[in-house]
Amino acid sequence: MARDGQTISDFATAAGPPLARAAARDLAVSQVREVANAGFGAPDLAKFWFGEGDQPTPAFIREAAAQALAEGRTFYTHNRGAADLREALGDYLQGLHGRAFHPDGVSITSGGVSALMIAMQAVLDPGDHVVAVTPVWPNLVEIPRILSARLTRVGLRVDDGVWRLDLHELLSAITPGTRLVLLNSPNNPTGWVLPPEDRAPLLDHCRRLGVWLLTDDVYERLDFTSPGAPGSFLTLGDPDDRLISANSFSKGWRMTGWRLGWLVAPPSLEPEIGKLLEFNTSCPPDFLQAGGVAALRGAGPYIDDLRHELAARRDRLWTGLAAIPGIEAARPDGGMYVLFRVVGETRSVALAKRLIAEAGLGLAPGAAFGSESEGWLRWCFATEEAAMDKGLSRLARWMQRGG
Ligand SMILES: Cc1ncc(COP(=O)(O)O)c(C=O)c1O
Repeated sequence: MARDGQTISDFATAAGPPLARAAARDLAVSQVREVANAGFGAPDLAKFWFGEGDQPTPAFIREAAAQALAEGRTFYTHNRGAADLREALGDYLQGLHGRAFHPDGVSITSGGVSALMIAMQAVLDPGDHVVAVTPVWPNLVEIPRILSARLTRVGLRVDDGVWRLDLHELLSAITPGTRLVLLNSPNNPTGWVLPPEDRAPLLDHCRRLGVWLLTDDVYERLDFTSPGAPGSFLTLGDPDDRLISANSFSKGWRMTGWRLGWLVAPPSLEPEIGKLLEFNTSCPPDFLQAGGVAALRGAGPYIDDLRHELAARRDRLWTGLAAIPGIEAARPDGGMYVLFRVVGETRSVALAKRLIAEAGLGLAPGAAFGSESEGWLRWCFATEEAAMDKGLSRLARWMQRGG
């Protein structure tokens, strides 16, 4: 406490420049957190608000990390990741996308979060123009703000029960002055997947204008429309394209708490990526990277099973929601979320808080992902079916009572 009842922060603000820089002050507070905090401590809450399941990482991955820790792999690694993990990643990417990946073109990061931050730190200057397809997971639009870039949103819209993109609208928003396009497919929160026929026109347009395309591919293995061959731009692109793919072990291998991800970028950008990694995180822990090697080498059957399981849960949740009178649910083509709305309700944060108090149900408000999904609620279906069924019957009872 400073003099005369002023707090230290009032005093500093009155007497000098603001404590935090404008870009940090302007950051949005997570509305998912706002709702989750409101439910903190509520007894017997059925929670589906965060983007993770209720099962731990598979044993074969945990054991590889535990063994590496026991062997003393506790030192710094190369900034761009341990050699064995980058080699395993190169093999994995080649198997998936049908072309070779230069070892200098891949870097290991501390989760998808850090992959996206590093990528944007590498290419964005203050004032640069960024175009993002929205609604989207908040970091994608907040990172440009942290870096003082300008953002144009191109909104998905629901048409006939499915979220869709107007490609023409996206292409028109990308002008010669644009520096970066941000795309997340399968998309969080909508489950929208960019149609395959839209990929080449978008890449060509970016090539023509010299614009960077940064794809957030963390749900690429959870695409229910083209299971064997994920629709990544890496399949189409050349190594020297201005194309960056940010990815993560979190969703495809149930490894959210490991904070392990990767970047694929043109080899010519890698010196900058290496420097930025040094100044942000240096490198992820070595023994956790050993878990990453096991995850990639065992990816095939494991991920196919996970995708089948999630597709069945998507069907169960979407059908269950659509059967409740007064609920409108959009059908996702990938990812791990269904967005739905209660007819007549337009304010998702208030609605999510009422559902905690009145129905014992914890969901993420659509407003957290942008104005395009305001009024909608996001339900993560990566949980056990019994938990999902319990949540569905709570919602049905609440709707029956008149909402
Ligand atoms: C679209 C999207 N990108 C990136 C991430 C971050 O992934 P990670 O947990 O690996 O940092 C998430 C996490 O929810 C996400 O939904």
